Amino acid sequence: MTVLLPDGPTSPRLVQSLSFALSRRRTMERLRARYGSAFTVQSLNLGRMVMLADPGEVREMFQASPDEADTPDANLGSVLGPGSFFAIKGDEHRRQRKLLTPPFHGRRLRAYEGLIERETRRETAAWPQGTPFPVMPSTMRITLNVILGAVFGAEGAELDELRALLPRMVRLGSILAVLPVVRRDLGGYGPGARFTRYRRQYDAIIDRLIDRGRTDPALDERDDVLAMLVQSRYDDGAPMSRGEIADQLLTLLAAGHETTATTLAWAVERLRRHPAVLERLDDDEFRAATLTEVQRVRPVVEITSRQVRCDELTLGRWTLPRGTVVTACIALLHDDPALFENPYVFDPGRFAGARADTSAWIPFGGGVRRCIGAAFATLEMNVVLRTVLRDFTLEPTAEPSERPHSRGIAVAPAKGGLAVVHRR
Ligand code: HEM
Repeated sequence: MTVLLPDGPTSPRLVQSLSFALSRRRTMERLRARYGSAFTVQSLNLGRMVMLADPGEVREMFQASPDEADTPDANLGSVLGPGSFFAIKGDEHRRQRKLLTPPFHGRRLRAYEGLIERETRRETAAWPQGTPFPVMPSTMRITLNVILGAVFGAEGAELDELRALLPRMVRLGSILAVLPVVRRDLGGYGPGARFTRYRRQYDAIIDRLIDRGRTDPALDERDDVLAMLVQSRYDDGAPMSRGEIADQLLTLLAAGHETTATTLAWAVERLRRHPAVLERLDDDEFRAATLTEVQRVRPVVEITSRQVRCDELTLGRWTLPRGTVVTACIALLHDDPALFENPYVFDPGRFAGARADTSAWIPFGGGVRRCIGAAFATLEMNVVLRTVLRDFTLEPTAEPSERPHSRGIAVAPAKGGLAVVHRR
């Protein structure tokens, strides 16, 4: 076997991990400047990790079959549960994708537009005028309520409980996912124990919803995700267990709300600093191009990984042995001048009238594990922005750009996307 790994820093694992923890993006940029478009690093969580910033090699990584490369052992599944998309592999993963793709695609998407507009108006009704406020708490509530509506399809006491519980749970969970050391339960104390308590509350709420679903005489007429999971059967006729359903619903709620909300906060941050763009946003196509450009310059998920599951896997110039974690550097492709001219300039015009090239523009990852909510999130961001700009004008600013701040998984504007608005 001829293993061939890219070069990389030789500093101790802890030092390298700290550098990534302090600024993932800056560290990746520094390593690319030194080692080129692929490098090998040492991570506390993931061990030896090969990082790719060459579009051809990233494409090969995404196109590898699940037998060759699949979800890494250490991933979000360890927080969301063994039934989560992030934990399941191979055939089970394919089956669940088939089941859960329709509610987030095609014709079904249009049905959510009214829900998104309603939730946006409900949230923005109390916005202050003429004074700065961070927009992110608002975008978080909007996207949480929208995903709750799409997943459960109804309102009720349980939804109010989830609305109160989930933001805290997701916030803590996404920190625990990247810092497994603090996950340990210290005799009922500490963040790990707190997460266990949240999870128990969450399971009790989901149990009640599943019970109600199972006794609902109109269950087969419902088309929310919960109803689909309760009715789904494995090949041997067995239903999904409560645990599996709860893990998968939590995955959709967690993955589907913070990412979309932080991207919307970046949209506000970028737009206030680009008044000429702001003026053209009543054009549907230009607004879509603008959100594509926001995701290019400020991808909220900066990396995504697979782990080699065969004896050796060749990706472009490299041959990786079994067990190697391989990572696509989303943020590095997005600011590569060979892929995007003047990459640091915020210019939605580059996407106007053209679809993004999905081998260079990869905010949703790629291959069989590409974000299942990509079309849903794209629609949601567009409708939220359209609704906000119908009701309000957004005041431009000459203030410096907000710095990126890591919330664990997603990277958000450090001041939460400060907005100043006036009602039209
Ligand atoms: C702007 C918003 C969003 C961004 C930037 C985003 C980004 C991503 C990325 C980068 C991945 C990993 C893909 C890969 O490894 O190839 C992913 C996976 C995933 N996303 Fe999203 N996402 C967003 C919104 C959503 C929404 C709204 C949902 C739910 C409706 C969702 C559900 C998921 C799920 C379930 C996975 C795991 C898919 C699998 O492993 O098969 N995401 N997302």
